Amino acid sequence: MKHIKLNIRTKTQNYSMIIGSDLTKKISKILNNNSITFKNCLLVVDNNIPSGKILEIKKSLKNKKIFSLLIKAKENNKNIKSVNKILKILLEKNFSREDCLISIGGGITGDIAGFAASQFKRGLKFINIPTTLLAQVDSSVGGKTGVNTKYGKNLIGSFYQPNLVISDIEFLKTLPKREIICGYGEILKHSLIANRKFYYYLTKNCKKILQLSTPYIDNSIYESCKIKKEIVEKDERESGLRKVLNFGHTFAHAYEASLNYSRKLNHGEAVILGMNTALNFCFDNKLIKKRDYESIMNHIINTKLPSSLKKFFKKKDAHRILSFMLSDKKNRSNQISLVLLKKIGIPVINKEYSKDKILKFLKKELSN
Ligand SMILES: NC(=O)c1ccc[n+]([C@@H]2O[C@H](COP(=O)([O-])OP(=O)(O)OC[C@H]3O[C@@H](n4cnc5c(N)ncnc54)[C@H](O)[C@@H]3O)[C@@H](O)[C@H]2O)c1
Repeated sequence: MKHIKLNIRTKTQNYSMIIGSDLTKKISKILNNNSITFKNCLLVVDNNIPSGKILEIKKSLKNKKIFSLLIKAKENNKNIKSVNKILKILLEKNFSREDCLISIGGGITGDIAGFAASQFKRGLKFINIPTTLLAQVDSSVGGKTGVNTKYGKNLIGSFYQPNLVISDIEFLKTLPKREIICGYGEILKHSLIANRKFYYYLTKNCKKILQLSTPYIDNSIYESCKIKKEIVEKDERESGLRKVLNFGHTFAHAYEASLNYSRKLNHGEAVILGMNTALNFCFDNKLIKKRDYESIMNHIINTKLPSSLKKFFKKKDAHRILSFMLSDKKNRSNQISLVLLKKIGIPVINKEYSKDKILKFLKKELSN
């Protein structure tokens, strides 16, 4: 299949996202076509990427001086220590701002590398080559970078748009099924917050998408990125509209933090559970119509997305989850701000609720 190009225009950077198969062999050509030049590059590579793919990339960049750093993609490694490792190499090898940092990995690698790029000499060229479905449909678009601290997730970071994103679908062939499900969760989120027609496309074709069949997987990546692109272009720094992308995330980040970012529940799964909780909250508070609510819940069951909080938490964990929700960046004073859904395709932002109300609801969710 021919590749698809999506142009993203923000106040700080215009860049392209190229989506297709076998793109790693053509990187040099893609760089030329997009007028991206540099002499030195540091590849920050997720250590689970097959070595054959990395060799292809290195071959395609043969006229550049290449340095590499392997990263273990774990939430506990998504910290300032990993950023420092990257910065140390850039300094030791005397990189200039005209050189380039290239991330090859999922959202964890991309968030760490993107943040390092934003900090080095106030901004180094940055190319993102996302290798998970979640990174291809979500984290590689929009320029959010950052790392976790013991106080919560992504609390240190920056908005830093890449110079180019290359999404090669071939990477997905070695991705564990669990990670495909996580990426599908973000695709579903995009449909729910922005496009009812795309949601129906997903309900019709979900099996083929999850099997990575062309053109369903390509179309879903494209549509998903298009939704995110349109939101980010209007609100790059999340002062309003962009908040819709956090649908399910206030609960999700608290679930991840409560479990100390353990691999038992990874980010994508937490987001799916968080959307589930947010939908139950919408239904309990009569925000969403029964027909839409039931349709989404059936879709979650049909696609076998994670739906049981009880597997991870007991009723007594409600207090711990709430404490992490209270430290969310989006909150003001003691109120908890949620992104909710009125209808499929129609979100509402800045809905604020007291901590007592959320605690009561969480206790009910965890005992159901
Ligand atoms: N910046 C943003 O806008 C944004 C948006 C959403 C999520 N995120 C962040 O992204 C992170 C989650 O990203 P993720 O789901 O991609 O997880 P990840 O980076 O942890 O990757 C998931 C797993 O897949 C492995 N992997 C990656 N590519 C592979 C491949 N091609 N073949 C085999 N294995 C492969 C990794 O080693 C890891 O074990 C979270 O930290 C989240 O906060 C950021």
